[in-house]
Amino acid sequence: MDNHEVANPSVAAVILAAGLGKRMQSTLPKVLHPLAGRPLVGHVLAAVQPLGVQPLLVVGHQAAQVQAYAEQAFPGSQFALQAAQQGTGHAVMQAAPLLQGRLELAQVIVLAGDVPLISTVTLTALLETHRQSGAKLTVLTAQAPDPYGYGRIVRDVAGNVAAIVEEKEADAAQRAISEVNSGVFAYEAAWLWAHLPLLSPSPRTGEYYLTDLLAMAVAEGGAHALPLGLPGYYETQGINDRIQLAEAEGRVQETLRRRLMLAGVSMPDPASVYLHIGVEVGRDSTILPNSYLEGSTVVGEGCEIGPGSHLLNASLGDRVRVTASYVEDSRLDDEVEMGPFCHVRGNSHLSNHVRLGNFAEVNRSTIGDHSAMGHFSYLGDATLGQHVNVGAGAITANYDGKRKNRTLIGDNVFIGSDTILRAPLTVGAGASTGAGAVVTRDVPAGMIAVGVPARMLPKKAEPPSVE
Ligand code: UD1
Ligand code: MG
Repeated sequence: MDNHEVANPSVAAVILAAGLGKRMQSTLPKVLHPLAGRPLVGHVLAAVQPLGVQPLLVVGHQAAQVQAYAEQAFPGSQFALQAAQQGTGHAVMQAAPLLQGRLELAQVIVLAGDVPLISTVTLTALLETHRQSGAKLTVLTAQAPDPYGYGRIVRDVAGNVAAIVEEKEADAAQRAISEVNSGVFAYEAAWLWAHLPLLSPSPRTGEYYLTDLLAMAVAEGGAHALPLGLPGYYETQGINDRIQLAEAEGRVQETLRRRLMLAGVSMPDPASVYLHIGVEVGRDSTILPNSYLEGSTVVGEGCEIGPGSHLLNASLGDRVRVTASYVEDSRLDDEVEMGPFCHVRGNSHLSNHVRLGNFAEVNRSTIGDHSAMGHFSYLGDATLGQHVNVGAGAITANYDGKRKNRTLIGDNVFIGSDTILRAPLTVGAGASTGAGAVVTRDVPAGMIAVGVPARMLPKKAEPPSVE
């Protein structure tokens, strides 16, 4: 993003996302591990976005993968490469050359890519406190129920912040301190550029700690802290291992579920409902136990989802019922009903009042208003008109071993039980197929196709006599 496109060019946000995330024990970079369906670093970027400031990610470990995600999800993000990960201070040093020349830049916020639950409100408060205090550096702190692993906030006898001591460097008394560094800071830009080069590597680990800047600011009388207290801890929790990831997930889920319930969605057993960020559900809809609403799923009003349903990138109209079924990348219009045990996928579209009974699979297909498919059936690459009835066990044989072929079924067609429709094929409006028919040719409108392979008879004719 060019500078002129940034709404607030006086502030930049540097997000540290270069670390390996060793404690995750993963080949996936830590900051790409998902939380409510969104990578950790995506949560940080989403919190920064409303500030209208330039986001700059420091990437290193699997840089290309992290950068590809951020570019796609948050266009306009900038990147600095930290080829060898020598600590959080070293990471910010890599960002400095990209920002130093910007004369309009007054403040820099630094965030950790593994502190995903930070809110825009808190970031705004941090910037405000920082500006009002006139400090060179403001650190956001929290009270951790278990401070293990965090940098501890050491205060002097007067209660002013004095230093941040990392877990590895802390003595027993310092380890007992429960006020911790959230990893989120605000700086005066000029002060930051002047003091970054003064950092020296930790004698214990050889890493440049960003946290050492605090003592320098203290020495100049320019350090300030914004303590969030205990409630703030949950917002500032860092994710270093999968236990912390699961804890954060639990809290995000609770927040998402409560938000939906307050907006008029019923959930008799909320703890068993799993949601992705961005999922929308309309008023008077009910989400029954063991249901998953993921991706870009949007559910209308008065719907009933579950028990045991899974919606992924699904778009549902109003008064839709999905019982123990899986809907993926598909659209269901008003008053569609399905289940139990249906699978709808591949950009399928079910129009108003479509009914699918048990064990129906619909893939890359469109079904018109009031059509029904009650029992054990498969539609692939098919287009159905309105008021079509698909009998028990009927299927489209859409794949000939080389290609997927289409089946077109007109309005008011009756597909008899156990029919096989060998695509490509058209069944004209008002036509029927007999039970067990293997249809290999087009069925003209108003005709009935019977037998194996199916013969075409006028629909009003007497049934063929038994030989
Ligand atoms: C860091 C802080 C600690 C704070 C905690 C909050 C330091 C030295 N310690 O510890 O005071 O309480 O965060 O969660 O700052 N990163 C890089 N390059 C590096 C190293 C790290 O980009 O060379 C990134 C990581 O990808 C991560 C973030 O910086 O997103 C924090 O690194 P991490 O190793 O998790 O630091 P903590 O041990 O959690
Ligand atoms: Mg961390």
